[in-house]
Amino acid sequence: KLSQDVPGQNNEALTATLNKVEDFLQPFRLSVEKLREVSARLRKDFIRGLGKHTHRRAPVKMLPTFVRSTPDGTEKGDFLALDLGGTNFRVLHVRVVENLQRVLKMDSKICPISQEIMLGPGEQLFDHIAACLAEFLESLGLKDLTLPLGFTFSFPCEQKDIDKSILVRWTKGFNCSGVEGEDVVKLLREAIHRRGDFDISSVAMVNDTVGTMMSCGYRDQSCEIGMIIGTGTNACYMEEIKNVKRVEGEDGRMCINTEWGGFGDDGSLRDIQTEFDVEVDRSSLNPGVHTFEKMISGMYLGEVVRLVLVKLAQEKLLFGGELSEDLLTQDKFKTKYISQIEDDAAELDQAREILLKLGLPASPEDCEIVRMVCSTISTRSAHLCAAALATIVNRIRTNRGLDHLRTTVGVDGTVYKKHPKFSQRLQDAVHVLAPKCEISFLVSEDGSGKGAAMVTAVAQRLAMQSRL
Ligand code: GLC
Repeated sequence: KLSQDVPGQNNEALTATLNKVEDFLQPFRLSVEKLREVSARLRKDFIRGLGKHTHRRAPVKMLPTFVRSTPDGTEKGDFLALDLGGTNFRVLHVRVVENLQRVLKMDSKICPISQEIMLGPGEQLFDHIAACLAEFLESLGLKDLTLPLGFTFSFPCEQKDIDKSILVRWTKGFNCSGVEGEDVVKLLREAIHRRGDFDISSVAMVNDTVGTMMSCGYRDQSCEIGMIIGTGTNACYMEEIKNVKRVEGEDGRMCINTEWGGFGDDGSLRDIQTEFDVEVDRSSLNPGVHTFEKMISGMYLGEVVRLVLVKLAQEKLLFGGELSEDLLTQDKFKTKYISQIEDDAAELDQAREILLKLGLPASPEDCEIVRMVCSTISTRSAHLCAAALATIVNRIRTNRGLDHLRTTVGVDGTVYKKHPKFSQRLQDAVHVLAPKCEISFLVSEDGSGKGAAMVTAVAQRLAMQSRL
């Protein structure tokens, strides 16, 4: 299209430029064969993560969540929920209505978390959380109620039980001191006691993937996978307890938080990492950690695109070789620009406006090239997620000795929800990589809020049943 449409251009020169750009983008294009290989490597890492002795050094942590059951529809009650680790920090009041198959969000409040808090002492973070909760309860007149609380804490945690959860390490731009290795429930309770003006009853700790699975599980009981492609990326699924070697028990299932973001941290993805991925990792807050996530999720995709654009400009293949200060600044190219630039409805106008905002007057062919870069990098992200999801569904299928598996995945996250083509690319690729699995995708409605309440409600139901 390009080689014909641009008036006054020397077509041969343009074709040569496009070919060179194509060469730069080639390492981002993963063949079906390569994706199959990636999926097979992850399969092995799942087994390492689940094993009693191999777990400690496994890059994919496969963390037990102590969630043993998806909702059965009899859950009920009022709950508080906290949601930390996505785009915003939120507090919510949620009501689960028995038999109606409904989870109602009664009220919620967003509390901004400053960069200073994200990188400061842990005590300050938890005091801030407790203060937001107090303000919220005060404004609703709920301060004297002592409700159970579901805490969606979207970081890798080693759970000892549903209410004992030790932070393995921070990810996604958080780095508060004195929290890694500590029990997050204890830190929250201590902060609440320091204030002394309200209290909470039982606490359930929930990863956002688990909340997502559970919030969809209420609507569709075959939902046994939760997946997030947002600021970070991760998934959970229902595993046979007998395969979870670090938890006692032979019968039944437990939800496993895979923490697939850590895939590749032992170097196993070196063959597909480009020089740009290496650079994104090097200049991140946590080099060497969450290699897979850095090739996929919203916190990093814009940065990968930015580095490719810089390189193309330096090679004089873009912007007539000109660079701008913004283009040379880390994180200035937002992941949401990728979604906007790839939106067909907007033609190339969006690209031109965004580039202009970044101080780059772009020609139509520049815009076309930038769009090509965005689409290549977001496609790689969707395909890598598809390979990982294929690992999960294939595993569930073989676990159950089935020739054919029908299952539902609850999904959330800004990249999945906001990018115009991401979900289709992901679904098409999973279809090829897991041909014996028929997967429905259900976009979660507020998994981190309603789902956390649901986990708390299910935990209460199970506790009650075991007391009977
Ligand atoms: C990061 C966190 C993980 C979370 C994911 C999505 O990968 O480590 O716990 O589920 O982001 O938010």
